[in-house]
Amino acid sequence: MAIISSKSSSQPKPSAAPTAESPKSAGAVGQPPDDASSQQQPSASPSPIQPQNASEPPSASTKLLEADAQGDEKERQEERLRPQRLADYIGQKSLKEVLGIAIQAAQGRGEPLDHLLLYGPPGLGKTTMSLILAAEMGVSCKITSAPALERPRDIVGLLVNLQAGDVLFIDEIHRLPRVTEEILYPAMEDFRIDVTIGKGQSARTRSVGLQRFTLVGATTKVGALTSPLRDRFGLIQRLRFYELDELTAIILRTAEILSTKVTQDGAEEIGRRARGTPRIANRLLKRVRDFVQVKKLGEINQAIAAEALELFNVDPVGLDWTDRRMLTMMIENFGGGPVGLDTLAAATGEDAQTIEEVYEPYLLQIGYLQRTPRGRIAAPAAWQHLGYDAPDSQLSLLNS
Ligand SMILES: Nc1ncnc2c1ncn2[C@@H]1O[C@H](COP(=O)(O)OP(=O)(O)O)[C@@H](O)[C@H]1O
Ligand SMILES: [Mg+2]
Repeated sequence: MAIISSKSSSQPKPSAAPTAESPKSAGAVGQPPDDASSQQQPSASPSPIQPQNASEPPSASTKLLEADAQGDEKERQEERLRPQRLADYIGQKSLKEVLGIAIQAAQGRGEPLDHLLLYGPPGLGKTTMSLILAAEMGVSCKITSAPALERPRDIVGLLVNLQAGDVLFIDEIHRLPRVTEEILYPAMEDFRIDVTIGKGQSARTRSVGLQRFTLVGATTKVGALTSPLRDRFGLIQRLRFYELDELTAIILRTAEILSTKVTQDGAEEIGRRARGTPRIANRLLKRVRDFVQVKKLGEINQAIAAEALELFNVDPVGLDWTDRRMLTMMIENFGGGPVGLDTLAAATGEDAQTIEEVYEPYLLQIGYLQRTPRGRIAAPAAWQHLGYDAPDSQLSLLNS
């Protein structure tokens, strides 16, 4: 199951999302959870009283490269493929419109952007959009991920070092530890944090002002956000799956960056199998490129793309082994459902959360799967796709 890799799942992977600022401490695992005591020693983190703003901020892209130096080659490759400006960001028309207006308005007032929450399945362009916003606003973007913000000092360190207008990007924001979330409330609302100075009886709480910044949160699971956090975002935007023509354009663009030759119909064939997701489109293109190179085939056309992706177990509508296993199991063992999430997880060996956040959204989107209070149902289209005759009882179940 290499095609939809765990990179797009949302399991906690502390090392996968180092902060640009302090990759080591932020990514550390196995340390005892730090409570308020870490705030009692301001020297342990950059001094909250005197933010170190002296040096020129590196651009968003330099920061990314730094963060990537610890990442793997694949991550570096992905960075190369990210569009840099709003105009290069393909698709998501309404999102671009909304953000374009927000950017213009904020710039007109000389203010930072409102806090923004982006939600949607993995690989649709949330991180990319956050970097683009920073670029459009001419500020830098600090990237981190909720699982890396285990201790209060992690978030405090990031916040006090932000410069006016900076974007702070927190990935998987629905996973923020409670202490961290509570530090964020006043930071988002009033641009201040409350730090405790001293120990024991002499401990005092002190309010420390922050620069005005923009928090961009990304999540695959907007329902899992607490409402106090959700309410502090001025803009809440959903990313949708991409249309075939948009995916085709993304593949042609990526092919150009990778100096790979692909025909229009070759790009379309890859796009059809990309589950409406740019990250998958790019990944499939790379697999086909490998295939072409090894087989010494030259340009990627439709037939070659189809042959290569068949080999990699990606079927004509983009389903992979796990999708097909899940649906087949529902049909053969449960008459199409309803089937509980845990049963699906057990049958495929994926965890329930990955199924819910990575696999299901696309199956729901293309109408192969339905969610009901009693469980998941394989829709007639799924029966058909897998070569079964959908029974009448299945149709009546859906209409009930
Ligand atoms: N609108 C887009 N246009 C072109 N490429 C995109 C677009 N959105 C995403 N991508 C590509 O897909 C990859 C994954 O996007 P990313 O922003 O990391 O997704 P997310 O953060 O939502 O999981 C990026 O490396 C980028 O190359
Ligand atoms: Mg991301």
